[in-house]
Amino acid sequence: MAQLWGGRFTKETDKLVYNFNASISFDQKFYAQDIRGSIAHVTMLQKQGILTKEEKESIIEGLKGIQADVENGTLEITDEYEDIHSFVEANLIDRIGDAGKKLHTGRSRNDQVALDMRLYTRDEIEALDTLLKELLEVLLKLMKEHIETYMPGFTHLQKAQPVTLAHHLGAYFEMFKRDRLRMKDIRKRMNYCPLGAGALAGTTYPLDREYTAELLGFDGPTLNSMDSVSDRDYLIEMLSAMSTVMMHLSRFCEEVIIWNSNEYQFVEIDDAYSTGSSIMPQKKNPDIAELVRGKTGRVYGALMSLLTTMKGIPLAYNKDMQEDKELVFDAIDTTKGCLALFAGMLRTMRFRKQRMEDSAKNGFTNATDAADYLVNHGVPFRDAHGIVGQLVLYCIDKNIALDDMSLEEYKAISPVFEEDIYEAISMKTCVEMRNTIGAPGKSAMEQAIALEEAYLKEE
Ligand code: ARG
Repeated sequence: MAQLWGGRFTKETDKLVYNFNASISFDQKFYAQDIRGSIAHVTMLQKQGILTKEEKESIIEGLKGIQADVENGTLEITDEYEDIHSFVEANLIDRIGDAGKKLHTGRSRNDQVALDMRLYTRDEIEALDTLLKELLEVLLKLMKEHIETYMPGFTHLQKAQPVTLAHHLGAYFEMFKRDRLRMKDIRKRMNYCPLGAGALAGTTYPLDREYTAELLGFDGPTLNSMDSVSDRDYLIEMLSAMSTVMMHLSRFCEEVIIWNSNEYQFVEIDDAYSTGSSIMPQKKNPDIAELVRGKTGRVYGALMSLLTTMKGIPLAYNKDMQEDKELVFDAIDTTKGCLALFAGMLRTMRFRKQRMEDSAKNGFTNATDAADYLVNHGVPFRDAHGIVGQLVLYCIDKNIALDDMSLEEYKAISPVFEEDIYEAISMKTCVEMRNTIGAPGKSAMEQAIALEEAYLKEE
């Protein structure tokens, strides 16, 4: 049991207590960030005359050696240490001797862990952003290919009005775009360096906190040392943003599952992203989509959990806060995994255009347009609504679509109808007439796609 704080104690810690308290099993995840923070810290200590140049160089060389050995597998991070900070410090002292004992000058594990978690989260925001961007690229490519792929648009999961696949996918493009913006925002708010806050009340050493902040790519030092060591709200914001990403993915997955069902057959998920049944030979299941939908619960759970952990903690640091790590690590890994898998599933999915178009035709999705036709010929909308209602009833009875009625049949219900009704309610007209920005019509869609494309290039 390697601890940093034996001096004041007269008894060995009970093994169960030790294990309960230790965090090495999970905080080893940010060993690289811990070392990065320490290098900046000693660089600043030397600049301030607190360490000699030789001490600084020897410490940095030792730290880099530890990192290299962890990465090449010759140095194993084991649970013989309480946490990653103790592991690094103990190994440093082993390697370089007494100079290593000066690493922790003017620092507490409280500001150290606050720094490590921020560095880790900041790095992971980059990784999440890359994955979100890749997903947006897949979506944009599909949108360009499917500007004229007609499909039913739904409300209440009932066919409502025809749209295009490009338009439907474009809705998700907007959602994931906002997800990226949310993360960017969080990064901006959290990007201040807590190092130098010490345990809670700063230190008596003449630290240059601006310098450390700059070395680590922060916008400046945090302004209150008590807040610095006890603020976890950026993690709550991250969990909330990731919950929203997962909620978006989950809705999309639900649609893919519906579209892929035998009843819909709008899409076919590639074999590589489907699984079979051990008993039913005919089955090809959308397990990946279901799993992404299912894992959404884990990320929501992490958000609830951390909110609850934080709600009763008095200032400043309390050990409860150690609970942030497993929750956030798991949520990040889950969200990253889901984004990557989902993008792959979408990229390889086959869209059955004819099936989608037929489905749009057979659900009276052009009924609003038939009513608009009457309105354009002087019938008040409320009357037009009633007339088309009768048409629909008639069609249901005969099991046909509006497009299949003869002009005589139309005229029997309203004499206003003429030969041009067929053109007016064709799928193409229904979609193409909707051309205000944001609507599914071809020119509106092309305009939107151009803007989305410019947005992706901007980055
Ligand atoms: N493992 C601890 C955590 O994750 C590090 C900080 C420990 N500080 C302390 N005063 N015990 O929060």
